[in-house]
Amino acid sequence: MDNKKKPGLPKMVGIGASVPDKVLTNKDLEELVDTSDEWITSRTGIKRRHVLREGEDPSSLGVTASEEAIETSQIDKDEIDLVITATNVSDMPIPGSSPFIVRDLGLSRDIPFFDLKAGCSGFLYGIDVASNLILGNGYENILVIGLEALSRVLDWEDRSTCVLFGDGAGAALVSSDGGGRTILASTMYGDPTRPELINLKGGGTRYPPAEGDPDDRRYFIDMEGKGVFKSAVNMMKKSSEEVIGRADLKLSDVDLIVPHQANIRIIRQLAKSLGVGMSKVAVNLEEYANISTATIPLALREVIDNDGIRSGDLVLMTAFGAGAAYGAVLVEW
Ligand code: UT7
Repeated sequence: MDNKKKPGLPKMVGIGASVPDKVLTNKDLEELVDTSDEWITSRTGIKRRHVLREGEDPSSLGVTASEEAIETSQIDKDEIDLVITATNVSDMPIPGSSPFIVRDLGLSRDIPFFDLKAGCSGFLYGIDVASNLILGNGYENILVIGLEALSRVLDWEDRSTCVLFGDGAGAALVSSDGGGRTILASTMYGDPTRPELINLKGGGTRYPPAEGDPDDRRYFIDMEGKGVFKSAVNMMKKSSEEVIGRADLKLSDVDLIVPHQANIRIIRQLAKSLGVGMSKVAVNLEEYANISTATIPLALREVIDNDGIRSGDLVLMTAFGAGAAYGAVLVEW
């Protein structure tokens, strides 16, 4: 990589997203587990979620989101010099998801690519890694993808988790050049004391697949909901304040917050603790539920489609999730 070039701050030049067309409503879930539309709506704000059909390819969502990000960036796909796929559960434990996405994007030259695991904060971790590689290592165009097929690893008999998640992908192209959408500051952190707050234990090297019955609950997502709730508000607030401070700005300067979409009550508490009105907060979890790494790019894409961001607007993104990993990104549009 050419380190001689002295780039300015990195830009988020293209955004894309994709969700499966199959929808599961809260009413549909009432048929599966002992739950109700009323409970799910009042406790989480979720009404529907999009899920892959049997046999549908998870990484195809990442490919479609990436193609849209590339198209809206007006950068040729062969100018991409790194692909980072943030995902909690890859297409395959080996080789992950990135190799499939890169193959299906039809890139014509060899470039590096890797999967990144940082829970629901993976997309923002990816933006931070990409920004730093552009600033310090001469990379020019990095594709950051958030991809999840969580419906495939949910216990559809466990009402405490299966109502919360959905499938989808989002992508952003981060570039050394391009007009507007400047990444002013980004940060990533993790609380080192609670690795199992949200977990899927089976299938890794600690609980190898050959050891267990595939119906074993260790093969599904499990979490400590209340613990996640409390930390999510505190850690998203902390990382938001940090990026605002680093950019020498104030929270009152922020025009739009795009938080991770896990629970409307978490989002409201975050907004309240930051002293920002809900009119400045993007919310779309009613339609998609929690798609982990894909929630932020998907919500951002929707706001852009609705002409909800003007040139010069300050957009703050923040997330918290598995591994107790959290982070924030501040972009000037
Ligand atoms: O992206 C990061 C990943 N996850 C999150 O951010 C999730 C963070 N946590 C949350 O969003 C909330 O903690 C939940 C939505 C998961 C749970 O809400 P809560 O208000 O903390 O409820 P709870 O866990 O205290 O459960 C209250 C009751 C329990 O019944 P009992 O023990 O009081 O009789 C649960 O069994 O609600 C019951 N319950 C349900 N009832 C109907 C749990 N899930 C359901 C359900 N339908 N789906």
